[in-house]
Amino acid sequence: MGSDNAPVARTWRAGMIVPDCDQGQGTQASYVTTRFTLATVVPKAMLHITAQGLYVSYINGVKVGDDHLTPGWTVYDDRLAYQSYPVADLLKAGENRIEIRLGDGWWRSQLMWAQAPIFNCWGDKVAALAEIEGGGELLCATGPDWAAGLLPITKNGIYWGESVDARLAGLPADAGVTVITPSTRRIVPAETAGIKALEPLRAVDSWADGAATVHDFGQNCAAIPRIDMDGPAGASVLIEFCEQLAPGRVWDNRNYRSARAALDYVLAGGPTTWEPEFTFMGYRYARVTPQGGARVTGIVSVPLTSVPEQHGTFASAHPLVNRLVENTVWSQRSNFVDVPTDCPQRDERLGWTGDAQVFAGTACWLADSHAFLRKYLRDVMADQREDGAIPHFSPDPTRLHIAPEDAIWAGSTGWGDAIGVIPWQLYLHYGDREILKECLPAMLRWLDYLWSISDGPVIQSHATWGKKGFTVGDWLQPTGSSAKPQPTIGDDCAATIYHFISTDLTARIAETLGDTALAVQLRARAVTISAAFEHEFMTASGRIANNDQTSYALAFLYGLVPARHHDAAKAHFARVVADAGYKIGTGFIGTPALLPALTMLGLHDHAGRVFLNEDVPGWLFQVRMGATTIWERWDALAPDGSIYDPSMNSYNHYAYGAVCQWLFESVAGLTIDPDHPGFARIVLDPVIIPALSPVAATHQSLRGPIAAGWVLDGDVVTYTVSIPEGVIAEMAARPVLTVNGVAKPGPVTLGAGTHLLTFQRS
Ligand code: BGC
Repeated sequence: MGSDNAPVARTWRAGMIVPDCDQGQGTQASYVTTRFTLATVVPKAMLHITAQGLYVSYINGVKVGDDHLTPGWTVYDDRLAYQSYPVADLLKAGENRIEIRLGDGWWRSQLMWAQAPIFNCWGDKVAALAEIEGGGELLCATGPDWAAGLLPITKNGIYWGESVDARLAGLPADAGVTVITPSTRRIVPAETAGIKALEPLRAVDSWADGAATVHDFGQNCAAIPRIDMDGPAGASVLIEFCEQLAPGRVWDNRNYRSARAALDYVLAGGPTTWEPEFTFMGYRYARVTPQGGARVTGIVSVPLTSVPEQHGTFASAHPLVNRLVENTVWSQRSNFVDVPTDCPQRDERLGWTGDAQVFAGTACWLADSHAFLRKYLRDVMADQREDGAIPHFSPDPTRLHIAPEDAIWAGSTGWGDAIGVIPWQLYLHYGDREILKECLPAMLRWLDYLWSISDGPVIQSHATWGKKGFTVGDWLQPTGSSAKPQPTIGDDCAATIYHFISTDLTARIAETLGDTALAVQLRARAVTISAAFEHEFMTASGRIANNDQTSYALAFLYGLVPARHHDAAKAHFARVVADAGYKIGTGFIGTPALLPALTMLGLHDHAGRVFLNEDVPGWLFQVRMGATTIWERWDALAPDGSIYDPSMNSYNHYAYGAVCQWLFESVAGLTIDPDHPGFARIVLDPVIIPALSPVAATHQSLRGPIAAGWVLDGDVVTYTVSIPEGVIAEMAARPVLTVNGVAKPGPVTLGAGTHLLTFQRS
């Protein structure tokens, strides 16, 4: 179910070729190669290339381009991306040689966890497709005349890691190739800028651990090591990885589960520098064990990401808050590796839709996420089920391998709503109407699916994972002590709230696209859902059924609390937060809504106390415990540093980093006006949290750099904003407001330039 605005496929003259020596997934890797002669050097020569599996290409022994893990990960049965590289500087007059090395990748190495592993997800054959053209001519193309051979890579896989026996290098290309028809619907130009390496990280500390040496790179992230080794032929080096040490610096990577995520290298003799080609790991620590006389003379860690440039910064007087923002930046980098994944380390690393939807706003504030998330939305639409259910994750290995009657890995509220929420964030941040148009049909099918779950406005969710109507709910919502658990939201309530959120948002999108009739129809449906919500989940006294933080946060933020219940419900909300000792009581879907809802209601003190709480559960607890990325669970570590159950305990999940959207939009006060998207018009309305003063935020928007910051002195706030050309900013009303020294009743419209505002903190 691709979409009309998707990139145009190319007409290939080359044939896709399978190396005849390939033995299948998990076996020795292979390459294809050919030699071709050029009469003269050809300016502007371009290599267009893709593969089933992963590829690395070399021309005359030089690696082409600086991308990693090409061609990337798309829903391969729907579309396969190809990359194009200028190669004129690699070619020469006379004989040239091209070699394409092939790895198992997401195409056929293990995906999903040990209980339900899927191998050969999109096919059991790796294959290459490539053309070099220049001067209007086809200079070289994959075809039956190419040869194939085996690489010294004895095993590789996304979760497995990589095993190399360098003594096997240089094996002759003595096998043939077979031309096949690509098993994808279409081969399209790459939709993202590629996976890039960042500045290598050096070890900040190293220590002996038996025969091994442990290196601490000081930063948890998705990365590969680059290692310098020396020693006799047959000597070897094992490299293992870990995100978090147990107390006493005890090595513990049980949370990787069935992902071996290790590297082993057998030397061919003499010094060598190596980095893996067909895998990556999620780690902070590397444990290096040399054997048989091998010596490791150097090691760095090379972070990989699809979003190398940072577009947003947020600084405050609170060092833990500043680190929290940095941790979010690193969790985004680590999990934006061609697909927005939940985590980069264990036997999962899947494009979970719920995580992506709650994080989409933050992602756009911190980095240019436009092309990346647009590509992801095309994956999500390709995985949408016949009945409109949106997948739990995309690309979705289960769609091709698990029969719906066995289990449906699609259709959860809070997760599937990504099909509306993410396009809307791309519209707000980048003014992208096309993506709204492209996704609208899928949104409407999703709404019909939601209504069909219980054939009505209130969703009676199914309690069993894999059944139609199952909802993930407020995943990992903390319950506190088992003796006196905290209230949590019921699945029906959560599902019905999201039914409303998606219907209301899609009505707004239809309106934005000028489809008034559709907007009116959907608005009416939204009104029906909100009335049903009130009837089903609100008491006459304005209490919401489960009386938990998530229910109030979502209901207030998305306009589900009727005016007549407003004050009473607000009082209930405030009391639920206070009763929890101002500790967070929300999971994946409640957390991004909690602080925006509290500050929207003027409960700034409540929001500040919850945000700045340094005990578990809370954002700053993990920072205080030394986290360098965002944890999956609030209680990943106990206060004594002991590790929570490793069966589901990632130290690098960006979902809870979604709080950064609140830092930019509320604390720094930068809100995009939906009627003037793409930063054509912003509203300045900062929320003052005294403990954070001074605050300084910057953002590289579509229209140029924006900066906003404030300092509190007594009750007087000095707010400085810098606005680029092409942006209009409206300062919301404030008591005793001055603009550039002149008293002005708000709101005030500001144009390009730097403006100094002062006002009384209300
Ligand atoms: C993933 C999460 C996801 C959740 C939904 C977990 O296994 O890591 O990212 O949102 O499942 O159930």
